[in-house]
Amino acid sequence: MRYDTPSLMRWNARAYDSSFGYVSAHGAPLIELLDPQPGESILDLGCGTGVLTADIAARGTRVLGMDGSSSMIEVATLQHPGLDFVVGDGANFRVGEAYDAVFSNAALHWMGRDPDAVIRCVRMALTPGGRFVAEMGGAGNCAALTSAMLTAWREYGLPEPDLPWYFPTPAEYAVRLEHGGFTVRLLEYFDRPTPLDECPGGAADWVRMFAGSLLDGVPPATVEPLLTRVNELAAPALRRESGWMADYVRLRFAAVRA
Ligand code: BEZ
Repeated sequence: MRYDTPSLMRWNARAYDSSFGYVSAHGAPLIELLDPQPGESILDLGCGTGVLTADIAARGTRVLGMDGSSSMIEVATLQHPGLDFVVGDGANFRVGEAYDAVFSNAALHWMGRDPDAVIRCVRMALTPGGRFVAEMGGAGNCAALTSAMLTAWREYGLPEPDLPWYFPTPAEYAVRLEHGGFTVRLLEYFDRPTPLDECPGGAADWVRMFAGSLLDGVPPATVEPLLTRVNELAAPALRRESGWMADYVRLRFAAVRA
């Protein structure tokens, strides 16, 4: 789920789609875990530009893609004219009919304001026994990237940036799911170093793409030197001979509505 308001996060849907295809490419194993069956109804929560929504639909399901960003939904609707998409807030949505499954890839970490409200909405959107299958950033996700950002911001005398992500530990999220009325069937927590193939500018490009709103409060003349410093600080951990690598950590789970 991505929100358009500047206080939360802005997204450039076209750049996201063309330059960051890995967000979608890495979703394939999660679709296998979802195991969508023909005729099932599935809600894709935080669908972005709808690439995985279309993959799920291709399995013969009825699928609704939902995202907090109207620009993402605009692109999704244009690129997948036969599919249904809607703008919605993951922590405050209702659906007209109950779904067999809710699927979410690389989106729940954007919904950290009230994760219990998100889980409550997902539960209400599901039939009894319905599945909640998702992957998100887990504790330690992007640690080198965010530590480089925090250090660079501090070095430039800027206020500490309020990072917009929620990366829970497996234990924390499992407790939330159980308290929220789910039975956890599978929970995996693993490193997934991810090549930033499309980021010639390295960590600086990543910050521009995913944390662009944090640059709004930075004096324009400071932005470039600040990002150069982010690169210098992140390079020892993340720059390889083959290119830049993001230090992603994944939390993947399958739960059923109890
Ligand atoms: C992630 O997929 O882990 C992620 C992507 C962008 C910003 C933060 C986290």
